[in-house]
Amino acid sequence: MEKLVIDGGKILRGEVDINGAKNAAVAILPAAVLASNGKCLIENIPDIEDVHCLERILTDLGCKINKIDRNTLEVDATTIQRVDACTEDVRRMRASYYFIGALLSRFKEARVELPGGCPIGVRPIDQHIKGFEALGAKVSIEHGAVRVQAEELKGANIFFDVVSVGATINVMIAATLAEGTTSLENVAKEPHVVDVANFLNSMGADIKGAGTDIIRIKGVESLKGCNYSVIPDQIEASTFMIAAAATKGNILIKNVIPKHLESISAKLIEMGVKIEEGDDTVRVYVDEPLKGVNIKTAPYPGFPTDIQQPMSTLLSSVSGRSIITETIWESRHKHIDELKKMGADIKVEGRTAIIDGVKRLTGAIVKATDLRAGAAMVIAGLIAEGVTEIHSIEHIDRGYPHIENKFKDLGASICRKEVE
Ligand code: EPU
Repeated sequence: MEKLVIDGGKILRGEVDINGAKNAAVAILPAAVLASNGKCLIENIPDIEDVHCLERILTDLGCKINKIDRNTLEVDATTIQRVDACTEDVRRMRASYYFIGALLSRFKEARVELPGGCPIGVRPIDQHIKGFEALGAKVSIEHGAVRVQAEELKGANIFFDVVSVGATINVMIAATLAEGTTSLENVAKEPHVVDVANFLNSMGADIKGAGTDIIRIKGVESLKGCNYSVIPDQIEASTFMIAAAATKGNILIKNVIPKHLESISAKLIEMGVKIEEGDDTVRVYVDEPLKGVNIKTAPYPGFPTDIQQPMSTLLSSVSGRSIITETIWESRHKHIDELKKMGADIKVEGRTAIIDGVKRLTGAIVKATDLRAGAAMVIAGLIAEGVTEIHSIEHIDRGYPHIENKFKDLGASICRKEVE
């Protein structure tokens, strides 16, 4: 077990490179299972624990994985031998549910253990199941696993009841080899949805409209290997933008798509933060006192739920009252109790956090209650007076590659230590 130890109060300055998007990579790797001919060479994969988990699951299914370097993987799914994914790794992570759509699409059957993931609220998969059934699959839950089977998959018109990133991607994957045309409505439009569609198209799929209200998928006979590079991670980039603002620093954040960061940039600008956009960079700095703002999370292009927790740390340290309303997950304010240990003045009422900015946070022993809560605590440690110890950092390692090294390079005093 490890912990992060941060001696706060350093102003962050310099440049940081952003990795490939976690939530794109964790769908692209399972989707690589669809290549019945040739290998997929996938670049810009983040070096995170969720990806390592997926590598093990792919290997267990019979795929050959060749790790070219830290961020490049070659996946050969022509050697696949099994359609059941029921290991501890599958249970540990959320994105393992993409194997249901991928194996169903290619082999017309799959058995995949129900997924885990961050404890941020009830995480149903009814919309995934609704989509698979509409394509002609029989779906049952047996002994904690989802079992799907189909004689054949046929294109269908599917209108999702809720906007779901996972269901949109999973049903899109399942429909790529279905006979005829599938149309998906009330879909998620997140950049990673578009990235997975682009990856599938590079493999020979015929998907149009990803990123808009309707995705149309014309089924094709088979998919083949391809070369692909994952888009930059909008949430990792946003985390560094917030860290720059919180420490009143000046950071050039490189390898980003500024358009994907617009909702975050807009809120930071409203607070008084300065942002300069380049073609694939954003510079974030502070040259005036910041003020509180109100935030309501929403599906893309709205303010991402995944960045509201780091924002709550920033808002704790600026003058005035801010209100964060979480509309996607019902339990995504668990980190607030940890922030309060550091002196934050926050009241949680249901899905709303009412934050009154304080003059200073002070170092304490805290824990990462989930992935983005962990990022929130790191930023709190960076701005707090004195030393902060963050425990349960396995949550952070699931989604942020080498977080302590990146912050150290920016001037933070942060290190990883074994818990005694
Ligand atoms: N929902 C349903 N039924 C379903 C699926 C979802 O009711 O079948 C509801 C959920 O309960 C939630 C809402 O729909 O209220 C949105 O859930 P969604 O399916 O979009 O979430 P997800 O696919 O499970 C992904 C990310 C999350 C991110 C959400 C929302 C991955 C692996 N995870 O989860 O990322 O919060 O989309 O953008 O892509 C994170 O990176 O920290 C993280 C939690």
